Amino acid sequence: MSLQDVFIEEMRDLYSAENQLVKALPKMAKACSDAELKAAIVKHLEETKGQVERLKQAFQILGKKPTGQHCNGMEGVVAEGKEAIESDEEGAVKDVQLIGAALRVEHYEIAGYTAAIGIAKELGQKEIAGLLTQTLNEEQTAGKTLLTSSKTLLKQAGSEDDADEEEDSDEPEDAEEAESKRKSEEDEAEAAPELQKRKK
Ligand SMILES: [Fe+2]
Repeated sequence: MSLQDVFIEEMRDLYSAENQLVKALPKMAKACSDAELKAAIVKHLEETKGQVERLKQAFQILGKKPTGQHCNGMEGVVAEGKEAIESDEEGAVKDVQLIGAALRVEHYEIAGYTAAIGIAKELGQKEIAGLLTQTLNEEQTAGKTLLTSSKTLLKQAGSEDDADEEEDSDEPEDAEEAESKRKSEEDEAEAAPELQKRKK
């Protein structure tokens, strides 16, 4: 496999990731209570549509099709975001959950674009590197905007009265939560042998 092939794979992965987000971000925006946070996500949805176009342009330059690779990583990140969207919480607490999900999305993309830009430069694909850098800058700005929103919302969430709510239980409420709990215990058990080797 040549570096050019790796590049096409990375770019197709990004193209799939952005398309998944075009579908997911409206749901995330709808689930927000805070008007500023909602506006930030709607703004980023519009930017994301432009990012899809930039990737199409890049594929035109390469003379290749943009489809061919589904981004499993973004599928996982979006699935975690769905948990925040569907959570029974409301107000600032739910917004804080949504910010956690949105930050994961942005940082996953930042990693993908940073990797792709490095390869584009190595391959001498200056125009594509320029397009990808424009998108990377938008992702970084979106991440910073989310952090700014989180400052006020964290304070609100911390002071919201929780007194009338039942004590949250650690016990799974349905089959999906039970499976998630089982897997998390498996994660811990599988890490244990390596953790025991930790140098003190
Ligand atoms: Fe994006």
